[in-house]
Amino acid sequence: MTIKSITALLLLAPFLLAPVTAQQGPIGGDTCETATYDPNTDYFTSKITVDNAALFKVRYEKNYKVVSTTAVGNVKDYVLVQCGTPAPEASMFTNGTVFVTIPVKNAASLATTALAYIEMLGRRSALKLVDTEGLVSSPCVQMGLDSKDIIGLEDKNMTLRAEQFNGADVVFSTFGSEPGTEDKSVITSEVSDPGPLNRAEWLEFYSTFFNLEEPAQALTASINNNYNCFKAAANAKSNKPLVAWSSYDAPSKYNDNTASWILSGAPYKQILTADAGGEFYNGTTSSTFTSAADFAAALKDVDVIIDETNTGVDMNAFLQNYQLTADADYKFLKNKAVFREDGIVNPNDGRDWFASAVVMNDAVLQDIVRAVHPDVLPADVPYNWIRNIAKDESMKVLTSADCTAPDAAKPLPDRAIVCSTMKAGGKGSNAASKTMAGALTAVLGLLAVALTL
Ligand SMILES: *[C@@H]1O[C@H](CO)[C@@H](O)[C@H](O)[C@H]1NC(C)=O
Ligand SMILES: *[C@@H]1O[C@H](CO)[C@@H](O)[C@H](O)[C@H]1NC(C)=O
Ligand SMILES: *[C@@H]1O[C@H](CO)[C@@H](O)[C@H](O)[C@H]1NC(C)=O
Repeated sequence: MTIKSITALLLLAPFLLAPVTAQQGPIGGDTCETATYDPNTDYFTSKITVDNAALFKVRYEKNYKVVSTTAVGNVKDYVLVQCGTPAPEASMFTNGTVFVTIPVKNAASLATTALAYIEMLGRRSALKLVDTEGLVSSPCVQMGLDSKDIIGLEDKNMTLRAEQFNGADVVFSTFGSEPGTEDKSVITSEVSDPGPLNRAEWLEFYSTFFNLEEPAQALTASINNNYNCFKAAANAKSNKPLVAWSSYDAPSKYNDNTASWILSGAPYKQILTADAGGEFYNGTTSSTFTSAADFAAALKDVDVIIDETNTGVDMNAFLQNYQLTADADYKFLKNKAVFREDGIVNPNDGRDWFASAVVMNDAVLQDIVRAVHPDVLPADVPYNWIRNIAKDESMKVLTSADCTAPDAAKPLPDRAIVCSTMKAGGKGSNAASKTMAGALTAVLGLLAVALTL
């Protein structure tokens, strides 16, 4: 272990020490109560407090937790009961409340987003069923699919699909519940929670299903600290480049065969832009255009473009989609500042932007800072999702061969560098000792030991 990762560990010490003492004894954690259930015992000595997320809450009782999702106009309760202890009366809760025995051992996920959260918590071993498996970017989940330790949900034979769901204790979904799985479906809204740190805190939401509150809090705290360090560094710059997140929507049956160009106003993109030391731009009077000329006119002062168009992976395609010529008089063309979110994909263009970038928001901000104020970061800082097509940066295609932690209990490492020890403009960002991954894996390792006492 290097000095730097020891330093990082010490910074995390407050989060590290508590669970070691708190989790001792045969309660909570992975231990199921057997003969000696005591209604006065607090089975959950580590509890989360929700600091940033707006769309979930947790209430702790002695042997169960009530996790509530509060997506607009639709509060839904999930009662998480410690294994081996009695579930509370269903009549105490609203109709449709889902009961889940924890810690969860067999999880299904209908969206790829949940995978990154579960993997970051070191619980890939609990992941048994995955839908849209062709879009999975995680190398180790791809490996699990190859080895059939993780099963891709059947799409055609609905009898078989229903049988597959029988083996799941819980089905995570970002949309509704699938018919037949209502009593075990958990609808999550990490992608709608409006800020980057809100999204990261959904680690704590997922942790409640595995009794991993303490490491989840440590992870969230380290992501937040690293995020805020990048934010401070970028906002020390006095100039604020104008940043647009834009896309071209080609004519299709979904849009009346009418082309349009769109400037996104998504709140998390606004926050990321401001936190990267940029000025967010989504138009002056309108953010949707049906004329390429009007759209081009609206882009005249934009310094940095983040192109979110689905198709078109290089500069030629970008120029064609935006109906611009390479020598046109635009700052983002002269600055060579045209970025896309497809820096990490799987072989089918399954974008990791929709998976690990939803949780690792310190690494996301690092990427946006690299686009807006690159001189704030080490000169050789690697990009993750946000690649510069104006400089021909390539896509990194992840396959199961990239799984560096085949042990199902190994946490997925954060992709960010450690901001507090970075040297702006300097070299050496690639050293393992300077990634968040090294420090966090060590923390999770120690916590794993503590939790299995
Ligand atoms: C609960 O909701 C279901 C489905 O909406 C309904 O069929 C059932 O009658 C309800 N039960 C009670 C006790 O309200
Ligand atoms: C669908 O799956 C069921 C259950 O595994 C199986 O019995 C049946 O033969 C399958 N149907 C087809 C058409 O393959
Ligand atoms: C930019 O986005 C914000 C937030 O979504 C929205 O309120 C505003 O109307 C948008 N600006 C324009 C010009 O459409």
